[in-house]
Amino acid sequence: MASERLTVELGPLELRTPLVAASGTVGAVWEWAQVADTGVFGAAVAKSVSPEPWPGRPAPRVAPLRTGMLNGIGIQNPGIDVWADENGSRLGSTGVPVWGSAVGGHPAGYARVATGLEGVGVSAVEVNLSCPNLDDGEMFSFDPDRSAGVVDAVRHAVAVPVGAKLSPNTPDLLRVGAACVEAGADFLVLTNTVFGFALDPETRRPLITGGVGGYSGPGLKPVALRAVYETAQAMPRVPIVGCGGVAAGRDVVEYLIAGASAVAMGTVLMEDPRAGTRILAETERELERLGVTRAADLTGSVRRW
Ligand SMILES: Cc1cc2nc3c(=O)[nH]c(=O)nc-3n(C[C@H](O)[C@H](O)[C@H](O)COP(=O)(O)O)c2cc1C
Repeated sequence: MASERLTVELGPLELRTPLVAASGTVGAVWEWAQVADTGVFGAAVAKSVSPEPWPGRPAPRVAPLRTGMLNGIGIQNPGIDVWADENGSRLGSTGVPVWGSAVGGHPAGYARVATGLEGVGVSAVEVNLSCPNLDDGEMFSFDPDRSAGVVDAVRHAVAVPVGAKLSPNTPDLLRVGAACVEAGADFLVLTNTVFGFALDPETRRPLITGGVGGYSGPGLKPVALRAVYETAQAMPRVPIVGCGGVAAGRDVVEYLIAGASAVAMGTVLMEDPRAGTRILAETERELERLGVTRAADLTGSVRRW
């Protein structure tokens, strides 16, 4: 269970531990809360929701790989109105602060979703600018101005803290991150999945119907850690949630040292929904081993050669 040494600040939010359950891997949180000890998490993020229903892609849309997984789900969801009806009243009994995640095709759509999420009591809204599964053009987080437009619309629509979740698939990550902060994001989430592709030599077909999908799990870690490190070096005061390939307490402390204030995990929870309990215990042991009093003291403490 959480203790003072684990409490972290993420901009205006205080989290009882640095652990965050990543969007898309814990459903609408309440289902996952029935099997997991949610008390070890500082927050849990519900799956992204769009303004209108999105059907998602046909199966197969998730493929386990040797070093993680590939997914091309296509953000299947019933749209914010139905989502709020079905899930809103259940978020209060999850034992963990729930963040919503908004996705959409244009800024006004994101804002509408964010308003709906705030209406059912989420404690923050993640703006998912980085879904690799949309059919209608490139993702927002490839472009600083378009990303800023979305964050600005959401910022004006809700009072709760707003995070911008970015893609590692762009060479412009720093400019996109800076534009989001300028537009009012309280924190950055680094990162979503990286583009990946996998095929079956017998059938010669891609492993998922979408072909190219989002690659997550251990192989993503150096990519996302790079994003955290470079962003923290460039913008040391911007609160960051590190995300990508976390599977152990050691990964958590590495993200903190690289510059994150909190650390999200997804794929590991799909393999074992209860993994957070082990990972928090390991994180506490790592803090002990490193002689650190508070997890927050590690943030941004990376040294140069
Ligand atoms: C099956 C699956 C579904 C996901 N759905 C979403 C989503 O709806 N919204 C989102 O922002 N990220 C989504 N993600 C990305 C994760 O939140 C996370 O950023 C990514 O998987 C990297 O973390 P990990 O390596 O710990 O899984 C999804 C990931 C997976 C594996």
